[in-house]
Amino acid sequence: MRDLPQTNDPNLLVGSATADDAGIYLLNSQTALVQTLDFFTPICDDPYLFGQIAASNSLSDVYAMGGRPITAMAIAGMPDTILSTEQIQAIFRGGADMVKQAGCSLVGGHTIKNPEPIYGLSVTGVVHPDRYTANAHAKIGDVLILTKPLGTGIISTALKQDKCSPELNDLAIKSMITLNTPGADLAELNLVNACTDVTGFGLLGHLKEICASSNITAKLNCEQIPAISQEVHHFIADDIVPGGTKKNLATVLPHVKTNEVSHATQLLLADAQTSGGLLLSVPQNNVAKVLEILKSHQTLCAVEIGNMVSKQDTFIVLC
Ligand code: CO
Ligand code: CO
Repeated sequence: MRDLPQTNDPNLLVGSATADDAGIYLLNSQTALVQTLDFFTPICDDPYLFGQIAASNSLSDVYAMGGRPITAMAIAGMPDTILSTEQIQAIFRGGADMVKQAGCSLVGGHTIKNPEPIYGLSVTGVVHPDRYTANAHAKIGDVLILTKPLGTGIISTALKQDKCSPELNDLAIKSMITLNTPGADLAELNLVNACTDVTGFGLLGHLKEICASSNITAKLNCEQIPAISQEVHHFIADDIVPGGTKKNLATVLPHVKTNEVSHATQLLLADAQTSGGLLLSVPQNNVAKVLEILKSHQTLCAVEIGNMVSKQDTFIVLC
């Protein structure tokens, strides 16, 4: 979309220029619309879970802007040969249940025939126009907080190679179907400067987008950054790492000062996540309150992983 002309509508508060999670459009002094769309091909065998994961991932981009999802529409492409009607219905049911859990209304959708199944949602949310958490709003001194541990990409690759235990797979699925609801609550309380969700580009890739938009550098405390399980580190050591994760790392490396941090840790930090957690850039004075709210939401983790400093040679410094 880079080559498309930018719109100059003054009500468009966040457009496509800053690699944000969703667009934001001002309706009136109290309300702005948050709009996003996401879909993908199945990442697990269970159709109901696939629907849940895809919907949770789509809803997440509204939460990542500090918005509250209000309506959703399903977008789907389904083969009429590989999948049974029951399986297709299960995908839609999984998505619908997630939308309901988010307190959001499913208002319709559109399906076409497609050789490969695809499913996702277009989600509309609302946010106060002074309180959305855009990539460009991070400030020097902010503390970085992560709400889900990393490793879903590596775990799905291990699963495909029959090396992942059912218990570990359950952990990854639980993570992927956990809604990022705290994003909306924290923004309403004006506790966060910037926020994104960690998805396809991995922690480093999405953090780099915040840093570039805010013209700032992030220092990451790599020892603090959690993996879903110790097993994830073993998979990396055995080179059970998705191609996309390696590509993520190669793409972001020119923007990262790696210091003494191992290649294995770098791969974890670049791992492509499906429906990953929130990455919050929080003013120092709000950190205690934010951690308390994340605990009350029982987020899968609530860890301080680094902080924002003035712009250096690279956007990210690993420590
Ligand atoms: Co996103
Ligand atoms: Co997205």
